[in-house]
Amino acid sequence: MSFQLAILISGRGSNMQAIHRAIEEGKLSAKIAVVISNQAEAAGLQYAKNHGLATKILQTKPKESRQDYDQRLQSLIQKYSVDLIVLAGFMRLLSPEFIQAFPQKIINIHPSLLPAFPGLHVHERAIEAGVKYSGCTVHFVDEGCDTGPIIDQRVVPVLTEDSPETLAARILKEEHQLYAACIQKIANSQLEFKDGKVILNAFPK
Ligand code: GRF
Repeated sequence: MSFQLAILISGRGSNMQAIHRAIEEGKLSAKIAVVISNQAEAAGLQYAKNHGLATKILQTKPKESRQDYDQRLQSLIQKYSVDLIVLAGFMRLLSPEFIQAFPQKIINIHPSLLPAFPGLHVHERAIEAGVKYSGCTVHFVDEGCDTGPIIDQRVVPVLTEDSPETLAARILKEEHQLYAACIQKIANSQLEFKDGKVILNAFPK
């Protein structure tokens, strides 16, 4: 039985595409059970449909509470036998109830070296701060914003001439490699938790 993923997107979905490509190329032993978007017009949905992936759109209803939306999201995901929920540019914070329903089964990718620059406008803030290196982080999701045990990171230089766009593009290339590699480690049961941190075992159990 393959390792089943639910990938949650809100927009472009380039990380979702990179994960799909890694699967197609035999670099990742997993299956995308469903791609869920909270935005009907998310560009990533078209890619998913074109490649025969199951897609679902789950928009918020007017005045719907976070808890109610997340309850619907939880019910939807539970219709698929999912081993891992992969947030790939999903632009919503998840409620504690949702996170507790899937312990250690939700991961996120963020375009900075966390804990530096959580939240939005990451590249602008990195350039403004004058950091010489930035990168991306894959982490388990906890109840904070871009917190949670770090699984792995990739580092890129920040160049003097960088704009937020050029820095974002350099980091995105690394994201596309890193996310699939982290999912493979989880699928291999290579990760353990110790004192709230992720420990990587070199060899799968
Ligand atoms: C990525 O930069 C990711 O790190 C952040 O949102 C962006 C999503 O891009 N969480 P895409 O939709 O995967 O192209």
